[in-house]
Amino acid sequence: MIETRQITKSLGDKLVLRGVDLSVKRGEAVALLGSNGAGKSTWLKIAAGLLQPTSGEVVINSQVMKKEDYTNRKLIGYLGHRSFLYEAFTSIENLQFFARLYNIANPDERINHLIDAVGLSFFKHEPVRLFSRGMIQRLAIARSLLHDPEILLLDEPHTGLDQQGVAFLNELLLKLKTIGVTLIMVTHDFYQINGVCDRAVVLKKGKISQDENIVGRPVEWIQTLYAGKEITC
Ligand SMILES: Nc1ncnc2c1ncn2[C@@H]1O[C@H](COP(=O)(O)OP(=O)(O)OP(=O)(O)O)[C@@H](O)[C@H]1O
Ligand SMILES: [Mg+2]
Repeated sequence: MIETRQITKSLGDKLVLRGVDLSVKRGEAVALLGSNGAGKSTWLKIAAGLLQPTSGEVVINSQVMKKEDYTNRKLIGYLGHRSFLYEAFTSIENLQFFARLYNIANPDERINHLIDAVGLSFFKHEPVRLFSRGMIQRLAIARSLLHDPEILLLDEPHTGLDQQGVAFLNELLLKLKTIGVTLIMVTHDFYQINGVCDRAVVLKKGKISQDENIVGRPVEWIQTLYAGKEITC
C-alpha cells in the first residue's frame, strides 16, 4: 500500500503540487492522468522517494518514508522519463550494475529472464548507446522490475514501444497485478489504461480533480472524466 498525504512541492517559483492526497491499496492499478505540466512526474518521483516534498508525507505499508529510507525505497520499482541506463554498458552489464546497487544475491538468472521477457535476448551484449528508443525503454522496464518490487511506479511506460512491446508490457502488468503488485501508471494513452487499471486519478494544476473506478468503462468515458465534464452514463 502506498499513500501520499497532503503533498506539496515548490519548484522554482511555482507551486507544482498543492496538497495531493492519494492512497492506493495493495494489488490496485491506478492510472494517473493530467495535461502536460500538471505535476504527474513530480508526484511520482516524490512517491518513489527520489524527490523530497516541500510538505506532506509518503506512507508505505503504514510507515512514513524518511529521507534516506532505503528499506521502503527497495519496495518500489520506478520507471521515469529518463532510463537511468549507462550507454557504455551492455544490457547485461546495466542490470548487473543495478543488481549490485539493490544487493541482489545471484542475480544472473533473474537478469537473463528479464532480458528475455522484454524481448532483448539478441542484444544482451550490445552497448546501450547502439539501442533504439524502444529498446532503451524495454531495458528500462527490466531495470525497474529487477528487485521484484511490490509497488511499481511507471511514468509513461508505453513510450517508444512498438505494437509487440505494448502488448508484452500490458500482459506483464496484468500478470504483476495478479500477484498483488501495486501499480501506478502515468499515461496520456487512454487505450493502454483499459483492461489494466482499475481506477483513474486526474491531476489538474497540482491537485486531484477526479478519482474514479474505471472497471468496465469505455475509453470515451475516461476521456470525459479527463476533460472534467459531468458524467451522465
Ligand atoms: N526542476 C524544476 N524547476 C522548476 N520547475 C519545474 C522543475 N521540474 C518541473 N517543473 C515544473 O513543474 C510542473 C510539473 O512538471 P511535471 O514534470 O511534474 O509535469 P507532468 O504532469 O509530468 O507533465 P508531462 O505530461 O509533460 O510529463 C511544470 O510546470 C514544470 O515546468
Ligand atoms: Mg511527466
